[in-house]
Amino acid sequence: MNTTFFLQSLLTLHISGLILMAGTTIIDYSTFKTFWKLIDSGQEKSEGLLEATSKFSKLAGIGAALLIFTGFGMMALTHGVFGEQLWFRIKFALVIILILNSLLVGRRQGLKLRKIVETGSVNIALQTSGLRAILNRFYFIQLVIFFVVIFLSVFKFN
Ligand code: HEM
Repeated sequence: MNTTFFLQSLLTLHISGLILMAGTTIIDYSTFKTFWKLIDSGQEKSEGLLEATSKFSKLAGIGAALLIFTGFGMMALTHGVFGEQLWFRIKFALVIILILNSLLVGRRQGLKLRKIVETGSVNIALQTSGLRAILNRFYFIQLVIFFVVIFLSVFKFN
């Protein structure tokens, strides 16, 4: 078995990780949109939707781990040659922003939202208006970063 075979196998897993992470983010975003719609129409029994999204973050985490491990694996197999290239440096910085945004904004604000909903507050729409704006911005940023990272990885500008 040669290096090309290993590289292609890692790339296959890398892209599977990408599908898992980006796909889960899109589904998560669309579930949040449905959640806000229910809240706006006065249906406060929308906690079930938030429960579903807690499973999504686990799947996104598995996708992220797969992307990172296979990414470093490919770097090792190619003796870090991509590390010298501009596209890879920008991509790496964006991946770090993606992870930080997920841990510091998405996770934290998501937990805050869950707490408010679980306590069964009376006017959820009013109490969560700030969180709603932050989470909308969070998903938008994540999806734009995904797009730019894929674009850079495919075109590999140097
Ligand atoms: C959100 C995170 C990431 C996304 C969306 C992503 C996406 C992609 C995509 C779509 C490709 C395929 C390009 C092609 O074959 O034309 C690729 C290749 C690659 N990725 Fe990632 N990646 C991510 C994270 C990482 C990380 C963390 C590393 C390294 C530490 C990495 C290293 C690489 C390398 C070295 C290649 C080139 C493989 C080759 O062409 O032989 N990636 N990535």
